[in-house]
Amino acid sequence: MTKNEEYFMTDENSIEKKILDDVLHPRLIISGTVIKGMGRGRIIGFPTANLVPNAEQAFMERGVFYTRITIDGKIHDAITNIGVNPTFGYSQLIVESHIFNFSDDILGKEIKIELARFIRNEIKFANVNELISQINNDIEQVHTDNKAGSCPEASKLSIGTKA
Ligand SMILES: Cc1cc2nc3c(=O)[nH]c(=O)nc-3n(C[C@H](O)[C@H](O)[C@H](O)COP(=O)(O)O)c2cc1C
Repeated sequence: MTKNEEYFMTDENSIEKKILDDVLHPRLIISGTVIKGMGRGRIIGFPTANLVPNAEQAFMERGVFYTRITIDGKIHDAITNIGVNPTFGYSQLIVESHIFNFSDDILGKEIKIELARFIRNEIKFANVNELISQINNDIEQVHTDNKAGSCPEASKLSIGTKA
């Protein structure tokens, strides 16, 4: 195998793969109107702003992401799940964002979500407590990664320098 082939055959979770992804994938933007969810998010401690993707967006990336959300011209940090909520047996694709330190009512507002960093794939959990504990870990990871750099780009670079 040549050096080049070796480079491109790197493991899915490797640093090389992350750097390649960052270079090759343009960052994604999803815009839409906030709709009412099932209300479960508030009960489990993570209220979310929900968007139903349009036909074009139905093929977008899936999973949990660190996101930056623009509401009324102001940018907020958030964590977003793009998926079907398999833990609750749903099948409709939905974009759900938990916005940090935010409690305004934004039902019906136009928002713009920028996918800044992939965190993990969506998981079908055995119960709600496992989901809650994982979301807490996800949020902690976002804060840790953000501390490594003042912007998503900087923290991406720090992945490379830590190795
Ligand atoms: C950061 C984040 C990660 C999530 N990860 C998962 C997941 O891995 N599996 C899953 O079934 N649902 C996941 N969800 C979706 C939750 O199940 C959903 O937000 C909750 O049921 C509330 O839905 P509602 O707003 O329709 O009430 C996630 C939600 C957020 C905000």
